[in-house]
Amino acid sequence: MNDSFWQAAYIIGALCVVLSIKWLNSPVTARRGVLAGEFGMLLAVVGTLLRAEVVSYQWIFIAMVAGGAIGAPLAYLMPMTSVPQLTALSHAFGALAAALVGTAEFYNDVAEGNPTTGFKMVAIVIESLLGYLTATASVMAFGKLQEIVPTRPMTYKGQNVINLALFAIATVLGVWMVAAPAPVWVFPAFIGLSLLFGILLILPIGGGDMPTVIALLNSYAGAAAAAMGFVLENRLLIIAGSLNAASGFILSVIMCNAMNRSFANVLFGAFGQAQPASAALAQARPVKSATPEDAASILESARRVIVVPGYGMAVAQAQHKLRELADSLGKRGVQVDFAIHPVAGRMPGHMNVLLAEADIPYDRLFEMEDINQDFSECDVALVIGANDVVNPAARHDKTSPIYGMPILDVDKAHTVMVIKRSMNPGFAGIDNELYYLDKTLMLFGDAKAFTGEIVKELGAHK
Ligand code: TAP
Repeated sequence: MNDSFWQAAYIIGALCVVLSIKWLNSPVTARRGVLAGEFGMLLAVVGTLLRAEVVSYQWIFIAMVAGGAIGAPLAYLMPMTSVPQLTALSHAFGALAAALVGTAEFYNDVAEGNPTTGFKMVAIVIESLLGYLTATASVMAFGKLQEIVPTRPMTYKGQNVINLALFAIATVLGVWMVAAPAPVWVFPAFIGLSLLFGILLILPIGGGDMPTVIALLNSYAGAAAAAMGFVLENRLLIIAGSLNAASGFILSVIMCNAMNRSFANVLFGAFGQAQPASAALAQARPVKSATPEDAASILESARRVIVVPGYGMAVAQAQHKLRELADSLGKRGVQVDFAIHPVAGRMPGHMNVLLAEADIPYDRLFEMEDINQDFSECDVALVIGANDVVNPAARHDKTSPIYGMPILDVDKAHTVMVIKRSMNPGFAGIDNELYYLDKTLMLFGDAKAFTGEIVKELGAHK
């Protein structure tokens, strides 16, 4: 096949990847972004299959069928709430593929007696180090999210020193292979250390921090793919891998900023261990609670309601009932808007995805900085399964683990209603002073069931 065909396919494929990332920026164009990315990937695969170097399709076909047989059911059967796990698994496979290509290239050169050039060896070392460590780290992240591996941070004395020492030894072995022909045991030892480092890196990180870690692992997998592009002299891989590496890194920085935490705190801080004292303390202080009937009558007499969804809405899958509630209030002339905190839930865009699934119009969804000033003028702030992202302690309590995290100012609304099942804390494991305010009514129950009860009450008031 003519070389210019696959080269054109690669260039158009790379363009599609760039456009895909651009379009994925907004919910309005996100579907187009997904299609562009898929089309770009299809072009890349077809272009590669038509290259002169591909001499037989037999194994490629078998691998495609096996991959499709595993991937398609995974994508269809995984519930929406398990998307972070699925992402972790796909990073593990992608990174492992890059690492195996690096390994194959290394042994090919050795077997053929070709001395690997310095530049290619640097690329193989980077590709293998990042690829193998990302593969095991991603499997560990999957295990923590799926609760196969204990989700609490697992720490021991000298942990950071041991991890850093392992990484340093792997790096020294890598430099050795680049600088001079190393003994045969060096490459397998380097692989073993990289795999082990990936596992140990994840142990001290709590399950709740996995989405941030997964964004970072996405970045590593992208860097491994870009290095693979240099090994194989494949421009598309270099472009797509670099984009992946940069976007994953930027996303993890955005997530850390939105939580007001540093990378070091996420990676080494053992954050997310529930503080048992806070639950006990919470039982001791009185709060005001209300029934679905009370909630319905307050909501229907409001002019403006701002809904703040959080992780509990996702767990309860309450988005469809919430849509019914918004529709019912809208028919009564109540303005209902949705305030989205950047780290509400457990993954970037978690709330946007769920609300979009329930067909809540995009123009009713507002980002934190666009709606925060409106809380002081709204009649009711309805918090549904959110906790940390509305905790006023973040503004003033310097001892709080969430101090400095920007929050939604729901405490400034005239009335606050909070749907959750108990006084238990959220991800950060701390009590929430919002619940004890005079203006706050606790609506105790499952988010979906309670919202359904309110909708029923509103229906009965017609
Ligand atoms: P959280 O602070 O985790 O609070 C969720 C609340 O939902 C809990 O207090 C829980 O209380 C309630 N809940 C759970 N199941 C429920 C159900 N079936 N019905 C009703 N309520 C239910 O959630 P948030 O406010 O969304 O904050 C997110 C947290 O996750 C932040 O601390 C953030 O830093 C962290 N985090 C986020 C991300 C991303 S990217 N979003 C990544 C890593 C970490 P009950 O048990 O009493 O019901």
